[in-house]
Amino acid sequence: MKIISNPLTLKKHLKDIDKTVGFVPTMGALHEGHIALIKRAKAENEIVIVSIFINPTQFLAGEDLEKYPKKDEADKKICELAGVNILFVPNAQEIYTKDEVKICAPNVRGYILEGATRPGHFSGVLTVVIKLLHIVNPTKAYFGKKDAQQLNLINLMVKQLFMNVEIIPVDIVRDNDGLALSSRNIYLSKEQRHEALKIPKSLYTASQLISKNILKTQKIKKAMLEVLTPLSIGYVEILNRNFESIAEIELKNTIILVEVMVGETRLLDNIWL
Ligand code: PAF
Repeated sequence: MKIISNPLTLKKHLKDIDKTVGFVPTMGALHEGHIALIKRAKAENEIVIVSIFINPTQFLAGEDLEKYPKKDEADKKICELAGVNILFVPNAQEIYTKDEVKICAPNVRGYILEGATRPGHFSGVLTVVIKLLHIVNPTKAYFGKKDAQQLNLINLMVKQLFMNVEIIPVDIVRDNDGLALSSRNIYLSKEQRHEALKIPKSLYTASQLISKNILKTQKIKKAMLEVLTPLSIGYVEILNRNFESIAEIELKNTIILVEVMVGETRLLDNIWL
C-alpha cells in the first residue's frame, strides 16, 4: 500500500494510471462500516484509494474537531489488510489555503435536519468532497447511507456541477445490538450506549407499523417519538428520497431519519424504504 500525503503528488501518481479507481473518503477511526465501503470499492474497481482527513470546515465552533478520534496506526493496518492500494492522508494546509473559493450547500436541502442545527456543516462537507474528488478523479466514490443527507447533497452536487464520477451508496452496518456503527460511538459510556439503542428500536417500530400497512407519516412519527422519549431528540423525519415531506410512506421512495443527542454525542440513523 502506498501512502501519499501531498495532493499534487497523488494527482501526478494517478495521471498515467489507466485503471478504474474506487474512492472511499473518510475522516479515519475506521470501523466495519468503512470496511464495507472499501470491500465494495475493491469488488467494483481495479484500484482502491482511501482518504483520511478530519475536515475542519465541516465542524462548527464548539464541536468535537479537537477531540475527534484519531487512530492513525490502526487505520493504516485496516487499510493494508483490506487491500487498499493508496492511502491519501493530507493535512489541512495542503487542502486549504487563505481566501478560498466557496462551495455552498443548497439553501433548502443543506439547511434542514442536520443542517438546521449545524448551519454551514454541509458547505464544509461539499467543499472537501469536491476537492478530494478533483484530486483523486475516481470512477466511483463510496459513501455510507447512514449519513443520508450528506449522501443526498453529494449526489446533488455531482449532478448539478456535471461531475464525472458515480456516487455509490452503501448500506448501514450495525453492531450486534442494532446500533449503527459510527466513529463517534466510542464517546458513549456503557449506560449511554444502552440508551442509544432506542434509536434502532424506534426505526424497527416504524418498519413494524409499515408492515401492518400503517402508512400515515404523522402516526409513524408519533410512535417513534414515544420509543425515543426521554432522549434528547434532534429530529424524527419521514421524507421522500429527494428530502421532501410526505404525508404517506411511498414504498421504494422513503427515508425515515432520526437524530438524537446522547449526552454530548450526536447520533444519526435511518432506514430506506
Ligand atoms: O462522512 C464522512 O466521513 C465525511 O463527512 C467525509 C465525506 C469524509 C467528508 O469529510
